[in-house]
Amino acid sequence: MNTKYNYSLVKHNTFGIDVAADIFFEYSSVEELTDFIAEMKHSPEKNKPMLHIGEGSNLLFLNDFKGVILHSQIKNIQRISERKNVIVLRVGSGLKWDDFVAYCTLNGFCGIENLSGIPGEVGASAVQNIGAYGVEASDTILRVELVDLQTGKKRLISKKDCQYGYRDSIFKNEFKGRYAVTYVHYKLSKKFTPNLSYKALKSMVDVKYERRQLSPTDIRKEVIHLRDQKLPDPNILGNAGSFFMNPVVEKQLFDQIQKDYAQVPFYEIDEEHVKIPAAWLIEQCGWKGKNVGPAGVYDKQPLVLVNCGGAVGQDIAKLAESICQSVHAKFGIDLHPEVNFIAS
Ligand code: EPU
Repeated sequence: MNTKYNYSLVKHNTFGIDVAADIFFEYSSVEELTDFIAEMKHSPEKNKPMLHIGEGSNLLFLNDFKGVILHSQIKNIQRISERKNVIVLRVGSGLKWDDFVAYCTLNGFCGIENLSGIPGEVGASAVQNIGAYGVEASDTILRVELVDLQTGKKRLISKKDCQYGYRDSIFKNEFKGRYAVTYVHYKLSKKFTPNLSYKALKSMVDVKYERRQLSPTDIRKEVIHLRDQKLPDPNILGNAGSFFMNPVVEKQLFDQIQKDYAQVPFYEIDEEHVKIPAAWLIEQCGWKGKNVGPAGVYDKQPLVLVNCGGAVGQDIAKLAESICQSVHAKFGIDLHPEVNFIAS
């Protein structure tokens, strides 16, 4: 158990924004967390807001956090059932997501190898429904274990009750701020079928591997390679990955845009809706590679905003706002941040 006061969060958010939390509490077991919640009820700090974070790879702190930050250090992996072709793992929410992916690929537990190299922790995979290269975390999530931050009560919910959608879940809506995720159960396959639905991954693999049979480790290697080409390493350049979600627009609006921009990239959602890459919209508005003070738009992937050095949360937020305004003025589309803005 580890409680710190007036604690800098600079190492706990991948934007590298230097703000402080009144109280920072890390726990290594569910009991430590429930004890802390019980103690808080009788403490003078009991009315302070609580925020549970993961690695902070999806957060933008706008100022000091006048409350309690919670962070899981539960990192164990348990095999809870195993059959010929399927294994169910119970994984601590504080384990680094990519360490979990590495463990699975090494052991031949398949289904998340396309999600290699994503910053963040296991708990956040269940909250954000992280996704990349044709796969989402919810494809393999079976159940999620929670602790109620008010009562300390434990709860187990099924994947169906998590209400997963594109970068969405009940934890970002009805349950927002209410629970800590302590464990996530994943159902993985022991039989490998590569998911090559993402074109750039397929082309890369087709060229490099030709007739050789692919393994989950090969996919992991190629995904990491693809990511390295496009996405900045947060240890070198502060960022939170995709800053915005890819917008889904009405087919009618898309048709209008396509008249003026025949080359507009898109993914069909259904007969009436189309998803347009936010990266393309932002680039068309001339933002790619631009800086405004210490905040910048990454030159290889404009969906990523970066801290060029010494930025405060407001610098990034102002840049994001200007981008939204340009995209709205040019295309009539509202971009929605994927990153959580934290103000207290
Ligand atoms: N594009 C441009 N200009 C650029 C880059 C991209 O116009 O400079 C256009 C291209 O048409 C390209 C399209 O955007 O085909 C899509 O780009 P990309 O394949 O890089 O994917 P994305 O839609 O921008 C999403 C996820 C990423 C994930 C990739 C790969 C969201 C919000 N983001 O990005 O997730 O890695 O797909 O699957 O859905 C993250 O969450 O932090 C993240 C990086």
